[in-house]
Amino acid sequence: MSGPLTILVTGRYEEADKALLRRSAPGARVEFVELVELVELVHDLAGLVETADAIVGHVPDDLLAAARRLRWVHSPAAGVDTALSPGMLASDVVLTSATGNGAIPLAEHALLLMMMLNRDVPRWLRAQGDRRWDRFTHDELAGRSVGLFGLGGSGLDLARKAKACHMRVLGMRRRHCPSDPAVDEMFAPGDFHRFLGACDFVVVTAPLTAATKGVFGRAAFEAMRPTAFFVCVSRGGIADDEALLDALRRRRIAGAGLDAHGVEPLPPESPFWGLPNIIITPHNGATTKATARRGLDILADNLGRFCKGEPLRNIVDKAAGY
Ligand SMILES: NC(=O)c1ccc[n+]([C@@H]2O[C@H](COP(=O)([O-])OP(=O)(O)OC[C@H]3O[C@@H](n4cnc5c(N)ncnc54)[C@H](OP(=O)(O)O)[C@@H]3O)[C@@H](O)[C@H]2O)c1
Repeated sequence: MSGPLTILVTGRYEEADKALLRRSAPGARVEFVELVELVELVHDLAGLVETADAIVGHVPDDLLAAARRLRWVHSPAAGVDTALSPGMLASDVVLTSATGNGAIPLAEHALLLMMMLNRDVPRWLRAQGDRRWDRFTHDELAGRSVGLFGLGGSGLDLARKAKACHMRVLGMRRRHCPSDPAVDEMFAPGDFHRFLGACDFVVVTAPLTAATKGVFGRAAFEAMRPTAFFVCVSRGGIADDEALLDALRRRRIAGAGLDAHGVEPLPPESPFWGLPNIIITPHNGATTKATARRGLDILADNLGRFCKGEPLRNIVDKAAGY
């Protein structure tokens, strides 16, 4: 291929960040387009897409077909469930992600939800609103067990935080990997229900893939302890919403802390809002400046690698879905 590499970066970037990305791709032509959805570009910038060697952002299938030189797409999100379109799955284009950018705040958020549920913080907030002194006996995390469904960046960070809270940490991941000192017991994927039955808190930190979609259905909630809390900070859809609603309404489980939801934004008419035993946050657990900075660093590093012809970081295993 003759001429400089062309890299199309979609989305909103500060001038200083644009300069960093340009510096990271020496010799390449880096074009910035302030749109998150490339679909808006079909008519305006089809020519640019056709000449792009790499695109940062979401590439719809019709553009993917037109992007004849394209070799690499980078998703600025950690989860690539929406980026893995049929066209992307069928193509040879390498997909990378920002995985790891939000692992630390995601783990903090899960711990926050666990503590809030464990101490019934909503009860204190209701009492505060009423200027009422409501002192009650609550639980502590120490001695309780937490099961981490997904032991990647966020799961392992949460394991370490939970250990600092004197919890017993159980883990499940897709592949067989050596365990971590912060994890007391690993469960094989086939042992899902025994894993669930051993947890006082079940925290979902796995990606949404064909294998995890709906894995928390009725049978999973039945396998949980009635005193256990369910926390999901990774993706909606891993829990079947109807099954989760039913388990919460029947008090089959004690409660839930949800940052990721089956439908987002959660519509005002959603029955989840009205449940007393639930804490809802709006997919906000990792929305920090540091997450953005780490995501930018991953992209800058990958731009440099792409220009030098070196292996990229965070390559998505398209078959596995993350
Ligand atoms: N709420 C938010 O604001 C927010 C922000 C950032 C990310 N996220 C979501 O959080 C997810 C996790 O982020 P991360 O950085 O921790 O990702 P990660 O480092 O890729 O970790 C994912 C973990 O899930 C495990 N896993 C995958 N499929 C599984 C299965 N079928 N059964 C059991 N475990 C499975 C993986 O297993 P292996 O170790 O065996 O590969 C890995 O341990 C992302 O995919 C994204 O969807 C949400």
